[in-house]
Amino acid sequence: MRIHATINDTRTALRNSGRIVFVPTMGNLHAGHIALMTQARKLGDTVVASIFVNPLQFGPNEDFEKYPRTFEADCEKLTAAGVDVLFAPTVKDFYPEPQQYQVDPPEIQNQLEGKFRPGHFRGVATVVLKLFNVVQPQVAVFGKKDYQQLMVLRNMTRQLALPIEIVGGETVRAEDGLALSSRNGYLTAAERAEAPRLHRILVGIRNAVLAGERDFTKLEQAGRQELDGHGWKTDYVAIRRQADLQLPGTNDSELVVLAASRLGTPRLIDNIEIV
Ligand code: PAF
Repeated sequence: MRIHATINDTRTALRNSGRIVFVPTMGNLHAGHIALMTQARKLGDTVVASIFVNPLQFGPNEDFEKYPRTFEADCEKLTAAGVDVLFAPTVKDFYPEPQQYQVDPPEIQNQLEGKFRPGHFRGVATVVLKLFNVVQPQVAVFGKKDYQQLMVLRNMTRQLALPIEIVGGETVRAEDGLALSSRNGYLTAAERAEAPRLHRILVGIRNAVLAGERDFTKLEQAGRQELDGHGWKTDYVAIRRQADLQLPGTNDSELVVLAASRLGTPRLIDNIEIV
């Protein structure tokens, strides 16, 4: 695997690379990321990953400074997964001057995750557009674990007519159902034992909807109560339309249930498509 830190070197290295498939990450890679790399390998000629902890998408009280950085171990995993090129810039390489031109997503950026992380999707959309300009991929793969992120990036790509196909990768889970996440490392042993409740509740809601329940507010409230009754502090449990994450109408059938809740200090997010 060839590793490049600068925008110019990466552009030069990627000339004549055929069909480029790109998987952006913030590092601290786990099996969920590696599944995205494996998926990417099948979709084109050259697989490019990036590792960049993007300061623009972290709020002032979030974990930018202490976000886990495990570069050596990540490189080994990417090499084993058959990744061809890694773009791993420093903040100075990537933002040599203050990034004053940014992508401002529409109102959905202030809902669900965005309500609790103001400015987050602006930071995500900006870094991803800039990464796309560096790598110029034909395909980009993002995990469904960050469902709202995937939706924002898919819609940004379509509305800005970027010639890139956006592909969603399935969430990888531990045996007990907990979605893999770099932030799971913040859980204590007791919190880790409690954490799979989030997925169980989402599965229960999905099953209830599939069985014909249409009182979504009741399901959302029951999910929230069950979490909070077990010591969680829930930001949202929400049933939304898959395509745009708006509230579902009576005839909408392609739905997703999303949740975010704090277990001690760590904040976990998860979702499950209702299909
Ligand atoms: O999902 C992530 O790891 C990040 O939000 C992304 C897409 C790499 C942008 O920094």
